[in-house]
Amino acid sequence: MNMQYTAKIAGTGMYAPKRIVNNFDLEKMVDTSDEWIRTRTGMFERHFVADDEAASDLATHAAHKALEAAKLRVRDIDLIIVGSVTSDHAFPSTACIVQKNLGAKSCMAFDVSAGCSGFLYASDIARQFIENGSVEHALVIGVEVLSRFTNWEDRGTCVLFGDGSGAAMISRAKSTDIGRIIDTHMEADGTYGNLLIQPAGGSRLPATDETVREHKHTVHMEGNRIFKLAVKSMYNQCETVLKRNNWDVKSIDWLISHQANLRIIESLGNKLKIDPKKVIINIEKYANTSAASIPIALDEAVRAGKIRRGDVVLMTAFGAGLTSGAMLIRF
Ligand code: ACO
Repeated sequence: MNMQYTAKIAGTGMYAPKRIVNNFDLEKMVDTSDEWIRTRTGMFERHFVADDEAASDLATHAAHKALEAAKLRVRDIDLIIVGSVTSDHAFPSTACIVQKNLGAKSCMAFDVSAGCSGFLYASDIARQFIENGSVEHALVIGVEVLSRFTNWEDRGTCVLFGDGSGAAMISRAKSTDIGRIIDTHMEADGTYGNLLIQPAGGSRLPATDETVREHKHTVHMEGNRIFKLAVKSMYNQCETVLKRNNWDVKSIDWLISHQANLRIIESLGNKLKIDPKKVIINIEKYANTSAASIPIALDEAVRAGKIRRGDVVLMTAFGAGLTSGAMLIRF
């Protein structure tokens, strides 16, 4: 690989909308129980957008915080990449709306559709722009508003999701910087695409009265099959980056896995044989925020003083596609 520079995470930020809905609130809306949701998923609360909020609004809040944490100004941004499957519109991209909201000029801006792996995919792309010298500072955002794509008649999915956004400024590292992205590995297996899909609203099945009546613009998921593939694929991607860099799992300070289900996170941790105290978990507060879950967990852990400069962090995700990936960083 022709690497002229190294990339580092210069600052992070997150935003969750104000409205909080807990499991007891859901009990009043669908045939479910706090006990079922807690024991099957580890979730308790999730945040939902207000009527006038959309993905770009959440993304812009998180972006401001990441810029501030990185001590950078809007005019420093060379590239904006947003990972999302719940963009404001099919087009223009949410990244372009964020660019307008921030007042950033002339930079490249585009979205990446990789489901819950969206933040890691977007970070990997940003990293390569930085390593080849094309840009110096990239704003990477994972944002989702899954509450707008929920079928409230399907209790198997509607209790699982929350809205939120997380952002990172990924910048060219100076020779004196300790932080750097060590390695990344991303994969996809499109043969499993139908296990997690929003069937209507695209060119395959455009919106009609019938598709709306049949809830085809919402999340359709085969939870059980996804569960097994999730653990397997995240484990494989983690093993790939660890082995390729001769890192033992004992040298990892923190594991941040996509927050889809507590049992998935625990199974992955057991399989990797990582000390459970090193596994970052916040699923009880946000539920599954898809592409936003990793940057939200990262930002919370940094601001809480858990993750410190110099710590080695392994991040891993899987999602619609099916996509998966792992990123090893020294923060
Ligand atoms: N409340 C009460 N009961 C429920 C609920 C609910 N909300 N949902 C399902 N049940 C019932 C089912 O009807 C079923 O009842 P039955 O045995 O009488 O038929 C029973 O609970 C078991 O259902 P399962 O689907 O087998 O439950 P499981 O233990 O597999 O948990 C879950 C379901 C939580 C969805 C799990 O499979 C999972 O987390 N899968 C992975 C999900 C995921 O990670 N998705 C990818 C990310 S999402 C994205 O990319 C946008």
